[in-house]
Amino acid sequence: MRVLVIAGTAHRGNTRAVTDLFLEEFRSNGAETEEAVLPRDFDEICCGCANCILHGEEKCPHYAKVSPIAEKLLRADVIILATPVFVGSCTGAMKALLDHFAYMWLVHRPAEEMFGKTGLIITTAGGSGVKETVKLLKSNLFFMGISDVYSFGVTTMKMGGNYADYKDKDIIRGKVRRKAEKVIGSAGRKRVSLKTKLFFRIFGMTQKNGWNRTDSEYWRSKGWLDGKKPF
Ligand SMILES: Cc1cc2nc3c(=O)[nH]c(=O)nc-3n(C[C@H](O)[C@H](O)[C@H](O)COP(=O)(O)O)c2cc1C
Repeated sequence: MRVLVIAGTAHRGNTRAVTDLFLEEFRSNGAETEEAVLPRDFDEICCGCANCILHGEEKCPHYAKVSPIAEKLLRADVIILATPVFVGSCTGAMKALLDHFAYMWLVHRPAEEMFGKTGLIITTAGGSGVKETVKLLKSNLFFMGISDVYSFGVTTMKMGGNYADYKDKDIIRGKVRRKAEKVIGSAGRKRVSLKTKLFFRIFGMTQKNGWNRTDSEYWRSKGWLDGKKPF
């Protein structure tokens, strides 16, 4: 099993600490892990040219920086999006990276490798925002074709701090272990939900009339307009 962590912050605080607990569990089950730490490994903001959607992802002005991360996404079995809550949402660095994957949403050119992967969202907040952050990131993974998505949110009830000082850290460790077991089980199943299949079908119908030639030619070249499926 190959696990990719996309870390929405380079800060080694609460989110990193919880992420490391998960990685310990995965590694002790034989997983290989790799990471993209933001903004160290990607520090661009989408400029809105829409070249990726309209003319192909290699036409993105940030292609050289984003494509190594896209390759990591494609080869992972489990994708972890880990972020603290910043003003009610994920970090700006995480959002900026996700904006660069718009072209691979189901409505455009989903990558067949993405279907059946497992997602895990890890987020920590001082007080509130875990629910909203999980919802946003789940939706991003769904539209990339990933339907089995787990989440692990921690509300610390204090600003900053360090996970090592949590009085309930043993409880958290136990919860991490149980969630990690579920993620590992899911990675073996490679499930594609009915909702994903339904959205794929609906977007396939819109591709038949193809307002965006780059998208519709992609679907045609895969045989998806003639009944073939990526799952
Ligand atoms: C810029 C900034 C914005 C934040 N916004 C929120 C917020 O909207 N809601 C919240 O509960 N905590 C917020 N926090 C607190 C962090 O989410 C919380 O301390 C988190 O555990 C920090 O994660 P880290 O240690 O991995 O950096 C914010 C912290 C920072 C630095």
